[in-house]
Amino acid sequence: MARRDQEHDVLPIPNGWFAVAFSTDLRVGDVKPISYFDEDLVLFRGRSGEAKVVDAFCPHLGAHLGHGGRVMGDTIRCPFHGWQYDGATGQCTHIPYCERIPPKARVRAWDVQEKNGMIFVWHHLEGKPPEWDFPVQPEIGHSDWSEPRTFELEVPVHVQDMHENNNDPVHFQFVHGMMETPPSEIEFGEDGRYYRIVSHSEQVTPVGTFQTSLIRDSWGIGLSAVSTTGIPNAGLLMYSSTTPIDATHTHSRWLLTATNNMVDVAGEEFMRGITAGVNQDMPIWSNKVHRARPVLCEGDQYLAQFRKWTRQFYSTDHPADD
Ligand code: FES
Ligand SMILES: [Fe+2]
Repeated sequence: MARRDQEHDVLPIPNGWFAVAFSTDLRVGDVKPISYFDEDLVLFRGRSGEAKVVDAFCPHLGAHLGHGGRVMGDTIRCPFHGWQYDGATGQCTHIPYCERIPPKARVRAWDVQEKNGMIFVWHHLEGKPPEWDFPVQPEIGHSDWSEPRTFELEVPVHVQDMHENNNDPVHFQFVHGMMETPPSEIEFGEDGRYYRIVSHSEQVTPVGTFQTSLIRDSWGIGLSAVSTTGIPNAGLLMYSSTTPIDATHTHSRWLLTATNNMVDVAGEEFMRGITAGVNQDMPIWSNKVHRARPVLCEGDQYLAQFRKWTRQFYSTDHPADD
């Protein structure tokens, strides 16, 4: 039996921090309907400059706040009858034709934080508050580093399958044309949410050939930073978030920056290399199934460790437990 729908193990949507927009895509007063985590949401930037995310549908008669809703101070006003909801608490703060506000007049307000050029929300299937944080990436916005370039794409694959790529050194040889599978090491952060895998290889660059390390940092399944060390006085950073649209579609956002001294000689090649790399992965992602219990061999130890680490980010039934 080899039909895609029969072979595919459905993974739940994981918990964690996930980007829902680039910061530059949301100006003060902007209101955007967004769909992530299999839910309809609205994203807006209040007058104080803070980004907010609330559930899309008005508790009154159910209008979608993201289609015609308006920012009023730090609230969003429903387009249908003008009820206003505070972006931080979700509580209705004003009904234009009525004094008394029903206590049930509130929408769910999501935990939001904005850093590293992206707007993140905390998603937890059971509604638990944020359980960990992730760091500011010092390269982004630093004067020695280039203005970040961005790109984004949607991929018909579960978010974990995309993230797994970083932790799969063997595929670099077969999908991305590396000469051999690079030796790698893994380390975990104290709280267990952070994971680093480092691969070592010789890199031919426009400024010479070097022994380099490719460092992939992950904070949960939604967020990773890939950086290179070993090229003197130069650095590259690919910061990315993979966000579940639903259990089988992922929105991936990338923010790319390099040290200024690299940009003139290698900036374009760097950009082209990244987009070409993602394109090489696309046919695999778009057609694969997820195997909750893959057949692994001894050489797959990084994949086995990655899979084990990811289990903490699922709070409901996991197909590997069936
Ligand atoms: S439906 Fe939103 S105010 Fe009536
Ligand atoms: Fe890849």
